[in-house]
Amino acid sequence: MKKADIAVIGMEVMGRNLALNMESRGYTVAVYNRTAEKTKAFADGVAKGKNIIPTYDLKNLVDVLDSPKKIMLMVKEGQPVDNFIESLLQYLKPGDLIIDGGNSFFKDTIRRNKMLSEKGILFIGTGVSGGEEGALKGPAIMPGGQIEAYKLVEKIFKDISAKAYDGEPCVDYIGPDGAGHFVKTTHNGIEYGDMQLIGEVVWFFKNVGMKADEIADIMAEWNGESDILRSYLIEITADSMKQKHQGSDEFLVDRVADITRMKGTGTWTVQSALELLVPVPTIAAAVFSREMSQDKELRLAMAKKLTIPSGKFSGDKKEMINVAHDALYIAKISSYAQGIALLQAASKAYNFNLNIGRIAKIWRAGCIIRAQFLDEITKAYEAEPDLPNLLAAPKFAGFVERNIEKLVKFVGVAHQCGVPALAMSGSLDYILQITSPIMPSAQVSALQRDYFGAHGYFKIGGQDKPEVMVNQEGKIREFHTEWLVPGRPEKEITK
Ligand code: 6PG
Repeated sequence: MKKADIAVIGMEVMGRNLALNMESRGYTVAVYNRTAEKTKAFADGVAKGKNIIPTYDLKNLVDVLDSPKKIMLMVKEGQPVDNFIESLLQYLKPGDLIIDGGNSFFKDTIRRNKMLSEKGILFIGTGVSGGEEGALKGPAIMPGGQIEAYKLVEKIFKDISAKAYDGEPCVDYIGPDGAGHFVKTTHNGIEYGDMQLIGEVVWFFKNVGMKADEIADIMAEWNGESDILRSYLIEITADSMKQKHQGSDEFLVDRVADITRMKGTGTWTVQSALELLVPVPTIAAAVFSREMSQDKELRLAMAKKLTIPSGKFSGDKKEMINVAHDALYIAKISSYAQGIALLQAASKAYNFNLNIGRIAKIWRAGCIIRAQFLDEITKAYEAEPDLPNLLAAPKFAGFVERNIEKLVKFVGVAHQCGVPALAMSGSLDYILQITSPIMPSAQVSALQRDYFGAHGYFKIGGQDKPEVMVNQEGKIREFHTEWLVPGRPEKEITK
């Protein structure tokens, strides 16, 4: 019997669909699931007659594989991944490869990579994005691990991945150990940001009296061929908002509870951002909003205790739709700028050696945040690899400069109408802060810290000289005011 090219462990929908995808590209795939019934159901169902070999113990799974063995785990992140690695080890030889295709925490991936490489086993932690359909027809794949490990599966991954409009496969070697999972986690954080921003705009439209199908039409227009907002998430917003509630005339969206759950990758993105000192206010706003959404009982109780006065929208609806369109685009640029800044910081901290232009390229098709807009990001980093921030790319900077007042207006009007817009405001404030040579709030808090805690402060040359004062060797000069001493003398702190 022909040996299998690759194995997939985990017969939930992502594992099943990836196995089918691989088989459809000419590979023979061995499959295994912890509970045998799932493997059997798959083998006797859609996999019947296909080059898919069901196996019912791990030894057999490894035996039917060609060497070097390539085994892809599509199981729940966390302990199940460790358990499978542990069980597989007894059957593997140096040079064999384990791939973790779940949404694992990147530090777990670094740990597993280290542990396995000490035994000579190669390990890839890879992001696989695109949901069920993507897994079956072509996901975006973000593999991290040893380059020689990637070489073993490069062809398979290229064959099964989505292809961008120019035919390029949406997979590329991301970097060592945890790089792939870090990039996938950040992709998900950006995904949260996109979803929240769209949600805030939709809710605003609803608040000004538009019906779900009207909003769906706007979204469909915004997903037009050459629209700057054209993206998968806008497309599915348009499509899902037209859906009627089964057996009634109501729209489904009007009957769906305002509770958004989450599995953790958005939270990890924000946690990493906190650890690496990278502000990601839009992504954090998306996570915080999901948290607030989940406490339905609290909100129901609070609504009875506290009534927030709010105005009614009285402006021009058509004009406001245009305002919201450009506001959303700017907010999106801001959110991606934050996500990319996080990737760059992680790249430095963990030696991931990430190439932002190439990552944006992978995201052009297959994944949840796929959008034309990503092509612009790639171009921006190809033209200027050392861009200080995405917002500095001439094309984006120009748009922001010309249209920022629309985001200002959107946030203002939304708030006047009592519509929370945490992510839209986060995006706006990020832009305002990052372009401020002098951040007034920071001046105030620097002084407060010195006042109550003698923590010291730096100085600038003056209101028209925002650069920090340095000494002759170029070192930042630090000062402290003796607040409690009469005359409040100022001292230079020498270290
Ligand atoms: C993807 C998705 C996928 C999954 C998320 C959902 O890229 O295909 O992001 O990974 O749908 O894990 O995340 P939440 O449950 O946290 O919303």
